Amino acid sequence: MASLTIRKLDDAVKTYLRLRSARNRRSVEEEVRVILRELIEGREEPLTPFSAPPAPSTAPTPQRTGALPEASVTLIIGGGIAAYKSLDLIRRLKERRIEVRCVLTKAAQQFVTPLAVSALSHERVYTDLFDPQSEFDAGHIRLARDCDLIVVAPATADLLAKISNGHADDLASAILLATNRKILLAPAMNPLMWSNAATRRNVAQLQRDGVALIGPNSGEMAEAGEAGVGRMSEAIEIANAAERLLRPPMPKPLAGKRVLITAGPTHEPIDPVRYIANRSSGKQGFAIAAAAQAAGADVMLVSGPVDLDDPAGVTVKHVESARQMLEQVQAALPADVAIFAAAVADWRVANEGEQKLKKTAAGMPQLQLVENPDILATISKLTDKRPPLVIGFAAETEHLIENAKAKFARKGCDWIVANDVSPATGVMGGDRNTVHLLSRKNGAKDGEIAVDSWPVMTKEQVAIELVAHIARIATDKSREPAS
Ligand SMILES: Cc1cc2nc3c(=O)[nH]c(=O)nc-3n(C[C@H](O)[C@H](O)[C@H](O)COP(=O)(O)O)c2cc1C
Repeated sequence: MASLTIRKLDDAVKTYLRLRSARNRRSVEEEVRVILRELIEGREEPLTPFSAPPAPSTAPTPQRTGALPEASVTLIIGGGIAAYKSLDLIRRLKERRIEVRCVLTKAAQQFVTPLAVSALSHERVYTDLFDPQSEFDAGHIRLARDCDLIVVAPATADLLAKISNGHADDLASAILLATNRKILLAPAMNPLMWSNAATRRNVAQLQRDGVALIGPNSGEMAEAGEAGVGRMSEAIEIANAAERLLRPPMPKPLAGKRVLITAGPTHEPIDPVRYIANRSSGKQGFAIAAAAQAAGADVMLVSGPVDLDDPAGVTVKHVESARQMLEQVQAALPADVAIFAAAVADWRVANEGEQKLKKTAAGMPQLQLVENPDILATISKLTDKRPPLVIGFAAETEHLIENAKAKFARKGCDWIVANDVSPATGVMGGDRNTVHLLSRKNGAKDGEIAVDSWPVMTKEQVAIELVAHIARIATDKSREPAS
């Protein structure tokens, strides 16, 4: 019989299922089974939510830079005092975007109620192996397999004994025997139970079987006057351990490297209330900063005025004008890599008004424009603190490759990321980008220009790809760009 993983269904189907199951006060799985049963019996509800899907939100898409994929955990709560901590564990897992389905042993229900667990997990709670509602299609097998990880917290001495010996006489132990997913145990018991030879044997066997353990910690016990090893790890420790098992840490190819990035537009003042700007959103530069940070780099982001949250773990300097941006870039050197993704205004107003310009009988004010400093060329041509890899961006609205090649020749940088920002592409302010990476063949300073055209991608994907290219250079000394 095929198994169905709900979280892998289309978003529209998931939305429909969630709405319908919430309305009928059933778990999503139960709702699917009811739908199937109704279909077979020929009395299914009309799928109205599909014919009138909610209008797409006009709110900006949340920044999912570095966002991790959804995961799901079956949490088995054993019968120990520490069961109350599992209520916090549910919350900690959910805030890490991990779906949690809970199973309570008979003993666990003496310590926490299925109602509290269900209210926190927003899911039906499972307690019985012989539950006709969930067992008509072997529900314990689904609980064992339709998840990415099984966490047992608290793992009682009794559960350790059952798992290590392959018992399956209740729902919890049957799930643990029937699973092919990773298992994480958070033991919690009296120190004498933990140090008992039987428990030691069981734990050793479980470790040989490849089961992961977190804790127990040492400290005071619930029993008055008792202390020692046996306290269940804190919810946050268990959630972190679960997350490590679900999402092994990414390699950090840029660890120890300092990466400087500029992003966003600049605002060039006309007078105290007016300015010259451009339509850059800063999304591409911010995505690169987040990707470089995720790759382990120490990242400094110098950003013009944007409507984005600072990426986590990145040092951000906010500036307004091109001159301020150059100042902050120079102050941030030395760096191993500098990526100039900002759309810096080419010109500023020479005769900036000290007061707000007024309409006068003399006619319109004449704005004199002067050239702004060229940040990319300035840094590329440094002799002392030039970063070993300098990357510029060429945003063009026509003759993309031709103009980008000319810019490459003029600026003295190592790579150019060229993108078409003509209005029809929706790149300016949008979430997707089509870029071409220009570099010199064999890294030679005056070598032939090679153009690597990437398919259309989200700005996050472009950022990850660019960081992967940088990592290859950064870790391959023989391929360092000529400076
Ligand atoms: C008040 C009280 C507290 C208990 N605390 C624990 C505990 O922390 N760890 C443990 O292994 N057993 C503890 N037990 C014993 C278990 O509840 C008992 O072994 C039970 O059969 C475990 O069932 P389960 O493993 O199916 O959840 C406690 C019992 C009582 C009455």
